[in-house]
Amino acid sequence: MSADGGPRRLLIRDLAQLATPAGRGAPLRGVELGRVDVLEDAFLLCDDGVVAGVGRMHDLEPLAGDVDELDGRGLCAVPGLVDCHTHACFAGDRVEEFALRASGATYEELHASGGGIMSTVRATRAAGGEELVRAVRRHGRWMLRAGTTTFEAKSGYGLDLETELASLQAIREGGGVATWLGAHALPPEFDDADAYLDFALREVLPRAAELAEAADVFVERGAFDVAQARRYLEACRGAGLALRLHGDQFTEQGAVELAIELGARSVDHLEATGDRGVSQLADSAVVGVLLPASALFLGRPMPPARALVAAGAAVALATDFNPGSAFCESLPLVCSLAATQLQLSPAEALTACTVNAAHVLGRADRLGRLAQGYAADVVLLNAPDWRYLAYHLGGDVVSQVVVAGVPVELP
Ligand code: NIG
Ligand code: FE
Repeated sequence: MSADGGPRRLLIRDLAQLATPAGRGAPLRGVELGRVDVLEDAFLLCDDGVVAGVGRMHDLEPLAGDVDELDGRGLCAVPGLVDCHTHACFAGDRVEEFALRASGATYEELHASGGGIMSTVRATRAAGGEELVRAVRRHGRWMLRAGTTTFEAKSGYGLDLETELASLQAIREGGGVATWLGAHALPPEFDDADAYLDFALREVLPRAAELAEAADVFVERGAFDVAQARRYLEACRGAGLALRLHGDQFTEQGAVELAIELGARSVDHLEATGDRGVSQLADSAVVGVLLPASALFLGRPMPPARALVAAGAAVALATDFNPGSAFCESLPLVCSLAATQLQLSPAEALTACTVNAAHVLGRADRLGRLAQGYAADVVLLNAPDWRYLAYHLGGDVVSQVVVAGVPVELP
């Protein structure tokens, strides 16, 4: 509300450029992925939290009534970034493991010897719910500073009833979109993955389904196989959750086929996906979520992004922010990796971490574009050209963030 009680309006004026994925539908695939509309010398009008109009300054009609103004000179506007894959709810860190990996230990070895994910499970179980809320809020502030205005976060570091529910609650209180990653790893009190799933589906799912929007499973050697993942996901779908999978991170185990069979929203990672998986995904409605910061952090091969886009698959980009395989909350850095390592253009990268990522979260009707009727979530880049989003590798490129039409203090 403004001082006069009317809806709050904000005019961002004199922008060097405004860039937004073109069109209206989602997810965008093939040549559509790279179609970005760019307006020079632009304005953006926000009214009551949504975009009321965009255009060129010389077409701006005089506005009657109260309007706050933001000076966009020297800045470029892009949609608020959407991080559709993070593990932002955890306690502790894995800096020791990071140092060990730097001197040659592998992620899979650390996991197999009880470190890796399990060390974060121990720390997260030991934290109380309030500490988890503080952690999600802290990580959300890091993301906001990097231009992320909507983030998903997964549980999966609790793997017991109390900590999984506390994690999902913390994600919601911390402003995230919650995903139940009930099948992330086998917790130490079970020595059989099927027995663990019996427990998780019987005890945790009914309550997790009230807090989460989606369910996720790690399909991998040493985690869950396809039969176990199918059982878990079918039960989750029955409880009303959308489906996601971690698949083909290290080895192809059939996660792509399973995602398609079950009508999942996405299959994420895909570093090990071969030609068959690429063409299967291209013929499906499942989005391939690419996580190049994770591949970089682990020194692993990059996913076949160019082949996926060329074949017509829908792709999104996300950070995978977590303490072990991707301690990186920056989508601008992910866009730089997309351009330098995945052979995606800056325009393809922008679409992949805005409207396509919003589609993965079931929000593409209102997030991910700077067009009339979409949420007025805006990132102002401190740059003369919007492509600095990808070009300025590791740069401090975000100047200001607007959430629901309100400029926010960057923490
Ligand atoms: O997406 N691969 C499984 N899960 C996470 C990593 C979690 C961790 O190492 O703590 C991932 O990379
Ligand atoms: Fe992940």
